[in-house]
Amino acid sequence: QRLDLELDQIEKGGYEHFMLKEIFEQPKSIKDCLRGRVISEQAHLALGGIRQYLNKLVNADRIIILGCGTSWHAGLVAEYIFEEFARIPVEVEYASEFRYRNPIIKEGDVVIAISQSGETADTLAAIELAKAKGAIIFGVCNVVGSSIARASHEGAYLHAGPEIGVASTKAFTAQVTVLTMMAIIVGHRRGTIKESLFHQLLVDLENLPVKVEKALKTNEQIKYISSIFKDARNFLYLGRGANFPVALEGALKLKEISYIHAEGYPAAEMKHGPIALIDEEMPVMVIATKDQTYEKIVSNIQEVRARKGKVIAIVTEGDKQIEAMADFVIEVPGTHEFLMPIISVVPLQLLSYHIAVMRGCNVDQPRNLAKSVTVE
Ligand code: G6P
Repeated sequence: QRLDLELDQIEKGGYEHFMLKEIFEQPKSIKDCLRGRVISEQAHLALGGIRQYLNKLVNADRIIILGCGTSWHAGLVAEYIFEEFARIPVEVEYASEFRYRNPIIKEGDVVIAISQSGETADTLAAIELAKAKGAIIFGVCNVVGSSIARASHEGAYLHAGPEIGVASTKAFTAQVTVLTMMAIIVGHRRGTIKESLFHQLLVDLENLPVKVEKALKTNEQIKYISSIFKDARNFLYLGRGANFPVALEGALKLKEISYIHAEGYPAAEMKHGPIALIDEEMPVMVIATKDQTYEKIVSNIQEVRARKGKVIAIVTEGDKQIEAMADFVIEVPGTHEFLMPIISVVPLQLLSYHIAVMRGCNVDQPRNLAKSVTVE
């Protein structure tokens, strides 16, 4: 038994939980994910696993993205990225809904299936359905040789290393990284991104590990913020644009491991419902990094403040405007706005982790949840 305990400690690499280890591993897992695929100096960007069917993706009329849980959130981020860079319409679907509809799949439609484990039953069944209707399937999986990887025509692995914590962390950032690379490759081939932007994006991709490392430096501050809000009964998470799915993901992380009710919302939708919940008891996490919708989200923060909600904002380094109005600001390095989710999600992962620990929850094995859901 002592040996088991020691082995457990070694596997956790000195961290108290797998989840914390995996959160802190992200600079490395993103680097591993980019390795050999992006070399900005040589203007090189390629995914070895996507060759034979690359033209199908480049010439797609529509992309259907399938996934569950956190993988579905990565798909939502990818929707913004593909539409922006590749100008291809994207639909993101819960695999469980897609498979029980009678989905319309036309020639020219391609499917991207996202799954950390590569074993999620609903995602696998959705792929089989799409395949039977003639779609080409690209798998984005972490586990090599998994069922979804095998059922796909082609795909790209995350190379993020094994993820043990039930709450997905490093798989999410690697999924978004892979999907971003796919979108840039397609956009470059289609001519929907200019050469200068292409180069800039390669540099931005390469800089992600260092920026994520910096975002991890917020850990102590987040621990402190967690101690203040750990007894809250509800949390609201708001974001816009590519940070909207990050709000969903932040809320999911909190629900999963700390059992606090949390909702993610596009910030502008707040006025159509959740605003009714806001009072002095309600912490509101706002992902408000500098992008096209920055001024809009500043007004959303004012709306929350006017109702005495507690605002915890994730902002771009050096932001003074939000600092003056939020209760807490968490600063992270900036990057291209569509790559921002990879950085802005990090403090939210840490927040859910610390709150769960403070509430005495089983972080790595939350009640009622499984790492891979191989049954319906
Ligand atoms: C489970 C896990 C989640 C995961 C989801 C999808 O619910 O607890 O962390 O996001 O399944 O899993 P997949 O392996 O397909 O990404």
